[in-house]
Amino acid sequence: MITSYNVFVPAVMGSGASLRTGLKVRELGCQKVLVVYDKGLKDVGIADTIVENIQNSGIQTICFDGVLPDPPDTMIEAAAAMAVNEGVDGIVAIGGGSAIDTAKGINVLINNPPPIMKYFGVQKTLNPGVPMIFIPTTSGTGSEVTNMCVVSCTSLDKKDSVVSPVCVGTLAILDPDLTLGLPPKMTAATGIDALAHAVESLTGGQANPISDALAREAIRLIGKWLPVAFREGSNLEAREQMLLASMYAGMAFTNALVHVGHSIGHTLGAQFHLPHGIACAVTLPEVIEYTAKTEFNKVRMICECLGEVVAEDASSEEIGAIARKAIRTLIKSLEIPNLKELGISLENAVQIAPLVAADTGLALAPYRIPTPKIAELIKSAYDA
Ligand SMILES: [Fe+2]
Repeated sequence: MITSYNVFVPAVMGSGASLRTGLKVRELGCQKVLVVYDKGLKDVGIADTIVENIQNSGIQTICFDGVLPDPPDTMIEAAAAMAVNEGVDGIVAIGGGSAIDTAKGINVLINNPPPIMKYFGVQKTLNPGVPMIFIPTTSGTGSEVTNMCVVSCTSLDKKDSVVSPVCVGTLAILDPDLTLGLPPKMTAATGIDALAHAVESLTGGQANPISDALAREAIRLIGKWLPVAFREGSNLEAREQMLLASMYAGMAFTNALVHVGHSIGHTLGAQFHLPHGIACAVTLPEVIEYTAKTEFNKVRMICECLGEVVAEDASSEEIGAIARKAIRTLIKSLEIPNLKELGISLENAVQIAPLVAADTGLALAPYRIPTPKIAELIKSAYDA
């Protein structure tokens, strides 16, 4: 079988790396950049420090500090109009997936007329934008190394994404210092999203040997370091390893894609307004157990990366059960609530199964999953 690895984003990494932002912007030849972040990052001083660092390199800055969670199309279009009016020749995004995806959406619209919803789907012929530097402050989305941006379409009340080379960053700057203050709940929710990216891309229908290697290392690092980062937020090594893990997982899924766990997660998130990582986590153990029916060799790898011992002659059912237990134990150790604890009724939770079955992300799953089976997975995860 011929496979290919398609997306590569250069990265600078290490404690204090964000203090090279100005230097890196200058090396890219930019003279006036739009810096994108949310008000929270301004309040804790992270945004101002990086903006000053850019200015000290002789670069002019324009700030957009209005990033909202699940970036709405209207916000992206307003920020893009500002970028065009100001004639910026570069973008720096600081924050989690929402800030980075906002920057990507702006970049799509710099040389392509709005609205952004015109460009949903895979786009190969968009006019190029400007150089972009991404500085993640969470360890989860991996958006700094992916080729897509997720946008909330306000008129249709749904999320969709633009997949394009215009969404690929020019450079990722991974500075664990910026994630030290991330509260335990956010650390857990974003970190488990990275695990979902890794286990789903490893078992996905588009997996290739390079994405497999990245996904396996991401799982190993997350199993080891996410509980440490959750318990000891100021542990620099744990924060650094988690940034690395979420980048590996992002690199894996931007090539191999995700499947059932994220289809359930997207649907739960939209129906019950749950944070993305939590919505993807709640059924992940059951999804991977089911996945072992066909992808047992890959699920065996997941078990081994999480430190589980699997007998050589273990059946696919046994491998699936070990994986379910290992992932559930990790989720519980992070105090991530189950669907019952989230206050959702069993009846309402199970009712989303047909919507999950209609999710476009399922088309690339390694197996076809009938709607009653989706309902069954949700039911067995409900109060697990
Ligand atoms: Fe995700």
